[in-house]
Amino acid sequence: MPHTSTGGRVTESVIETSALTKRYGKQLAVDQLSLTVPAGSVFGFLGPNGSGKTTTIRMLMGLIEPTSGRASVLGRPVPREIRTVLPHVGALIEGPALYGFLSGRDNLLRYDAADPTADPRTRRARAESALDRVGLTAAAGKKAKAYSLGMKQRLGLAAALLQPRRLLVLDEPTNGLDPQGMREIRALVRELASEGTTVFLSSHLLDEIEQVCTHAAVMAQGRLITQGPVAELAAGARGRLTVTTPDTGEAARVLKELGVTDLVVTEDRVTGEPPGAEEGAQAPGDLAELNAALVGAGVRVRGFGVERASLEDAFVALTGEGFDVAG
Ligand SMILES: Nc1ncnc2c1ncn2[C@@H]1O[C@H](COP(=O)(O)OP(=O)(O)OP(=O)(O)O)[C@@H](O)[C@H]1O
Ligand SMILES: [Mg+2]
Repeated sequence: MPHTSTGGRVTESVIETSALTKRYGKQLAVDQLSLTVPAGSVFGFLGPNGSGKTTTIRMLMGLIEPTSGRASVLGRPVPREIRTVLPHVGALIEGPALYGFLSGRDNLLRYDAADPTADPRTRRARAESALDRVGLTAAAGKKAKAYSLGMKQRLGLAAALLQPRRLLVLDEPTNGLDPQGMREIRALVRELASEGTTVFLSSHLLDEIEQVCTHAAVMAQGRLITQGPVAELAAGARGRLTVTTPDTGEAARVLKELGVTDLVVTEDRVTGEPPGAEEGAQAPGDLAELNAALVGAGVRVRGFGVERASLEDAFVALTGEGFDVAG
């Protein structure tokens, strides 16, 4: 069913919230969240434990009522119009509900049978294809109660993949998976995105978000800290210039003269903020000039470069703290 409200334009947002808030007693689980998830993006919803990710996802999927604020999914206000939205959304939310006495395959068949729009004649083929996509074919005959955490997670993901969807909402999809499983899920997410599905996934793993997401939002204690394209977020915290040399004193003097700030000198290294750090990307020519000046001053340069800023650097720069659970 086409959604006239989004008109199929890739620039539209698929999830939009405005001052969305959820309060549990005194606890503000989600505090005035305004989020924009562009169509076609792989959107990482990043935050430490307890920062409000699952609570937000539950509100978006109509599982809990917001205390205040507004949310829309695929252009429809939720929870009010959640029933028109849900057929277009595949979701994996913390701890998927499974029948332990049924095999993984039979769980999927049951799940599919509960969908009134699903054609029973193609049910088995859909289930097999979903099992295959999540790497569960070999274990499909095993009872779900005998599944490991990672296997349960894969089965929950398979359920979300039974039908082609416009939006996938995955709450910590790699939770409980081993490194190989995580790689597989990342590849799967990329594949789904390339097929045109918008993927909204939560994670507390920064490098996971960096590897797979085009956009991200960073949460801390129920509040949004920043959101945008991952490349821009990472660029916000720029890398430090690092010069490896036995002539640290002279190197520091030259660099200071050329506008490098926040210099830190260790035994064989000088690091600092390159000039123009506030303006964003460093022009390669400027760095070459710094290097030439060092060499010209007789500094024996053994190593020279700017370390690429990661999303983790950006997070630390934004919050002034590490990625710890809030008290
Ligand atoms: N049903 C509830 N009743 C009371 N407080 C709740 C409830 N659900 C969540 N909270 C609180 O709201 C805050 C946000 O929880 P939430 O589960 O959304 O975090 P999260 O970002 O998903 O964390 P995690 O990474 O551990 O999954 C926490 O402080 C949590 O204790
Ligand atoms: Mg959670």
